[in-house]
Amino acid sequence: MESKNAEEIKGIVREQYGVIAESQGRSCCGNKKAGFSYREVQEEYSQLPGYQVEADLGVGCGLPTQLAQIHHGDWVLDLGCGAGNDVFIARHLVGDQGRVIGVDMTFQMIEKANANNKKFGYSNVEFILGEIESLPLPSTYVDIVISNCVLNLVPNKKQAFKEIFRVLKLGGHFCVSDIVLEQDLPLNARSEMALYAGCISGAIQRSLYLSYLQEAGFVGIQVPKKRKVTIPQEILLKYFNTQELEAWNQNNGVYSITVIGAKP
Ligand SMILES: C[S@@+](CC[C@H](N)C(=O)[O-])C[C@H]1O[C@@H](n2cnc3c(N)ncnc32)[C@H](O)[C@@H]1O
Repeated sequence: MESKNAEEIKGIVREQYGVIAESQGRSCCGNKKAGFSYREVQEEYSQLPGYQVEADLGVGCGLPTQLAQIHHGDWVLDLGCGAGNDVFIARHLVGDQGRVIGVDMTFQMIEKANANNKKFGYSNVEFILGEIESLPLPSTYVDIVISNCVLNLVPNKKQAFKEIFRVLKLGGHFCVSDIVLEQDLPLNARSEMALYAGCISGAIQRSLYLSYLQEAGFVGIQVPKKRKVTIPQEILLKYFNTQELEAWNQNNGVYSITVIGAKP
């Protein structure tokens, strides 16, 4: 992966999520090669009001809508919306007066999301094909930005955070669930594309992630939820020798976090 540039990485991510969209999540994240499954990182969704089983491809890592303080009438943007899992939950919260927009760079995801929306008939839900690093939306446009297990996949995270800042209205806020590290992955794991598309090896250190958010201009940055993600030992053994594995297990370094912050 080191030798791959951002566009090549995104091409691979797009391809893998295209397969996931077409197989309704049954391909288990397109990272079978790494032997890693999203079951290790996802959280139970089905109890949330607005949940639509057709939109749930089992590829999230948190419940950003739970802590996003979404109210009736809000305009909400979901980054890397997939088939619309969080979008339809947000739609339930904003009601008829609000608006929910989902952006994703994978054509098959947007196709699936639009097919889902056609079934539910929401006129205030829109799915747009586009990239987070250059959002096809005006500045100061939405009240709330949410995202679920996506920003780790974006090679240029600083640019992604800048874009979130740009599209939020003054006083608007974000609530993002994502994967971060608190320990370095070994080099050979970092260069494994299957682990990248599986949301692990594209993740950065939590402290760096939070500093990028601060640099983008956000205030009130907090991590109200943090959960350890357990990667099966047989997967880790592909990348660590037994001594390294022991050290890793003592400080286990992969977490699903939910981060919140606001545009002043
Ligand atoms: C792990 S899936 C999560 C999908 C959705 N949030 C969910 O929880 O069901 C990641 C999604 O992010 C999209 N994605 C990754 N990088 C992106 C980028 N730079 N711009 C837009 N979408 C991106 C992928 O196409 C994929 O649909």
